[in-house]
Amino acid sequence: MSTFSAQEKESRQPVAVMTPEFKADAVEKLRQLRLQGPVQRVRLRSGLDAWAVLSYDLAREALTHPALVQDTTPAEEALAAVGYVLHKKGQGATGSMLAADPPDHTRLRRLVAPTFSARRIKLLQARVQTITTELLDQMSGQDEVDLVEAFTAPLPITVISELLGVPEEERSGFREMTGQFLSAQMDARREAGIWLNNYVAALVAGKRARPADDLLSDLVAQTNDEDGALSDAELIGTGVLLVIAGHETTVNLLGNAMVALFRNPDQAAVLRQRPDLLENAVEEFLRYDSSVEQSSFRFAAADLELGGVQIRRGDVVSVFLGEASRAAPQTGDPKVLDVARPSPRHVAFGHGIHYCLGAPLARMEGAIAIGELLRRFPQIRPAGPVEEVNWIPAGIMRGPVQLPVVLR
Ligand code: HEM
Repeated sequence: MSTFSAQEKESRQPVAVMTPEFKADAVEKLRQLRLQGPVQRVRLRSGLDAWAVLSYDLAREALTHPALVQDTTPAEEALAAVGYVLHKKGQGATGSMLAADPPDHTRLRRLVAPTFSARRIKLLQARVQTITTELLDQMSGQDEVDLVEAFTAPLPITVISELLGVPEEERSGFREMTGQFLSAQMDARREAGIWLNNYVAALVAGKRARPADDLLSDLVAQTNDEDGALSDAELIGTGVLLVIAGHETTVNLLGNAMVALFRNPDQAAVLRQRPDLLENAVEEFLRYDSSVEQSSFRFAAADLELGGVQIRRGDVVSVFLGEASRAAPQTGDPKVLDVARPSPRHVAFGHGIHYCLGAPLARMEGAIAIGELLRRFPQIRPAGPVEEVNWIPAGIMRGPVQLPVVLR
């Protein structure tokens, strides 16, 4: 039985968001939504109703709120009502740290954290530089390329595959399936979750038979631990999470950064003159137009209040990280792209215990990739009007589907 008055019900009418039409103009539409209030009732593309959190302060509050958790139990009815895919334990990324609350989260994160520490990532820098140079060499014979296909996709895919230990001949399928997994089409999502699961399970079986010097082999060794540090389902969930989170996010960061520079050629000129600004520029790209539009869902384990809005036990909350970052207080005008902005503030990597584990890697890849692209191709420009960029239509990612460019 409903506990809301007619007026409350009225105010809870959800606004449809993240439809393909919405996403085509997402930056402006999300800004308008935030101006109506930083916590809004929305209907997502999947049909699921959720609370959208749109401001910087409330995004940080939501992502550290003790009653907003990953455990889906209180929301299962609401999720089932729209046929939302809840992979069973051991499917999709359900066994991963991103789907877990403490203490499981703490244990799972601790196992992989050393691989992604700033110190370990620094050791990878030379390899990332080499992969970048090879890809740019391949492009240099051509006048026009799709930058996504030729560069922004293969670079992060190669880097994460080498880290995990995915053999070259087995890398081709996972980009498409990751895209499908992140889509809002439930059947496609379910199918992709199972595909990715089987894919990682096969890789793991290979590592078990022939351990190598890579992250998946290290994790396999953890499942053989007498203490049982990692179950098989957790191992596979972790592999699926790393395959997805380790590339799609960075592919789109690079694409969005180049779109932003094409729209602001003066900033590309600044970066060519001052490569020392590249690391800062990556923070600005993350703030200005990030690749992860929404956090993973949080589920209310108890009634709570957020920004003056009552959230009930079982409600679903989605933090709109891109909009919250664009709305964050900054030095200077937040509407402009300024690669020299002092310490751009953002929540592009999330906040709290699930703060992106791959942030040092993404930052390093971003600085090398953008810096080298601008250096090697001083004339690089979009092949058509940049306003006509096709944004990924569905899912929580934001990035160009293709980015045709002229190189000289
Ligand atoms: C520009 C690139 C990237 C962006 C914008 C990004 C963004 C994010 C965000 C927003 C979260 C938190 C999600 C939430 O709280 O619901 C997250 C978590 C995570 N990311 Fe990233 N990510 C990027 C690159 C990477 C890379 C390269 C890797 C790995 C190689 C990675 C691995 C992870 C993992 C493992 C988590 C889960 C952490 C946890 O649950 O404790 N990410 N990322």
